[in-house]
Formats: sequence, structure tokens, C-alpha cells
Amino acid sequence: MDQYCVLGNPVEHSKSPWIHARFAQLTGQDIVYGKKLIALDGFVAGINAFRSAGGKGCNITVPFKFEAAPLATTLTDRARLAQACNTLRFDGASAIHADNTDGLGLVDDIQGNAGVAIAGRDVLLIGAGGAAAGVLGPLVEAGPRRIVLTNRTVGKAQALVDRHAALAREHGVELAAVALRAAGGPFDIVVNATASSLSGSGIPVPDSVLKPGALAVDMMYGPAADGFMAWAKAHGAVPRDGLGMLVEQAAEAFLVFRGVRPPSAQVLAELRASLA
Ligand code: ATR
Repeated sequence: MDQYCVLGNPVEHSKSPWIHARFAQLTGQDIVYGKKLIALDGFVAGINAFRSAGGKGCNITVPFKFEAAPLATTLTDRARLAQACNTLRFDGASAIHADNTDGLGLVDDIQGNAGVAIAGRDVLLIGAGGAAAGVLGPLVEAGPRRIVLTNRTVGKAQALVDRHAALAREHGVELAAVALRAAGGPFDIVVNATASSLSGSGIPVPDSVLKPGALAVDMMYGPAADGFMAWAKAHGAVPRDGLGMLVEQAAEAFLVFRGVRPPSAQVLAELRASLA
């Protein structure tokens, strides 16, 4: 059987093995998918060991997403723009195809699962770390009217805007970087990509960013998303956690690995039910 895994540190609580096992069952793919804890200074050794043991590909989680690109022999445009990868496929004896499926996962969750169109809308992305970098390209490609990036360190948001300026021009999307308190709005879609679990007074943007009925997505799920989601709900927005994005990025990775698109909405429903 072809072997895959998620590599990270920590990785113990990853839901990827469950999600990919279910995808495999539902699509009739004969694979095993595990998880591997690798030492913080051992990314390349961890990849090589897994490949030598017969691994066909892997997903990469914190804190290694930035270390994968140099190993790639082919890299998708979206991974190059993100400067981070979450999916590696080992092709033949030595080739490595690298991708970042996080952004498409977010876009698919917003449009497919939440049923909210991005085209022509105003989007606020909070954060400018790895999580935000991973989703900005696919958000631009979904064709909103504008995307405002806001971050505690505005220079990091500006650097992301600069890197995506050509793509934004190509898609006719207005792109700007602003300070947290100057986020303005209101926006149709607000995405929290900050690492901190935000709660109550910890919400770093003004309430005015939320249009009534806006979709407010936290990329986290479980207790880490509760504060942001409660704030969004209290201000008339529709809160959404990151579980859908998690399943959709996995579905896109499964497509990269196996060439088959799994029924992600069904698996998301099952995962939600199992966590309830
Ligand atoms: P990740 O890969 O999860 O994005 P990261 O690259 O460390 O993690 O980025 C963390 C993000 O959360 C950054 O946007 C960070 O803001 P800075 O760039 O100014 O550091 C943001 N962040 C972390 N703690 C925060 C807090 N207490 N308030 C606001 N933003 C915070």
C-alpha cells in the first residue's frame, strides 16, 4: 500500500490521518496515512527517512512549512507566492512536487461549504504570518473587489501585499495593507489568520469591520476559535471555524497525491459530528 503521513512538531492531535483515511475509503484508494513527529532541527532528515521507508508523499504542518520549498523540484505558483508548502509528493526516485493547498482549502470552504461567493466582495484578512501568506494568492484568484490585510506589524502585511501585487492587478483586485485599528470596513468576509487565540477584548480590529450578516472565519477550530466566533456572532456576523478549511485543504492535497477528488463535504459533516 502507498504510504503518506503528516510531518510536524507537535503532530499528536492532527486530524489529517483520520481525514485522509476516510477519503481513501470513500474513493477506494489503497493507501495508509500516518503521522510523524520530527525533531525541530530534523526536517530534511525526517523527509528523507520517510521517503526511504517507502513514503509516496506527505503533508507538512507547523513549524516546517517554510522549510519545504528548497527541497522541491517542482513548485506550484501558489506555493511560491506563499513561500510555504503543506503538501509534498515524491515522484519517481528523486523528484519532489510541492504545493500549498491551504488557500484553496479556505476558498473552497467559504464558497462551497458556507455558500458565500467571494467574487466582487470586500474581504479583510487579519494577520500576516505563515497562515495569512498561505491563503492570500487563492483569495486574490477568487476575484473579490478588494482585500485589506491588517496586522500588528504593518510592514509584514505590506510585504505580503507587495509580493501579490502583480497577481492582484491581473485579477483586478484592490489590495492594501493597513494598521489593525485602521482596518475600516465594513467587509463582507473577515478572515482571522492570527496565531493568537483571540477572545473578547483581545480582538485586535474594530467592531466596525463586520457588515451585518458578514461571514467571519477563524482559521483555527475548537476552543482556539471560540473568542473570535463569539465576537463575530455578538456583532451580527455569521461565525465559522477552520474545520472546513482543514478538510478542504486535505481534499486538495489528496487530489495532488492520488489524482482523485474526495467527497469533502461528507467528510466535513462526519468530522463535525464526531467532535460534537
Ligand atoms: P502562523 O504561521 O500561524 O501565521 P506566525 O507566522 O507566527 O504564525 O504569525 C502569527 C500572526 O499572528 C502574525 O500576523 C502576528 O502578528 P505580528 O506579525 O505582528 O507578530 C499575529 N499575532 C500573534 N499574536 C497576536 C496578538 N496578540 N495580537 C494581534 N496579532 C497577533
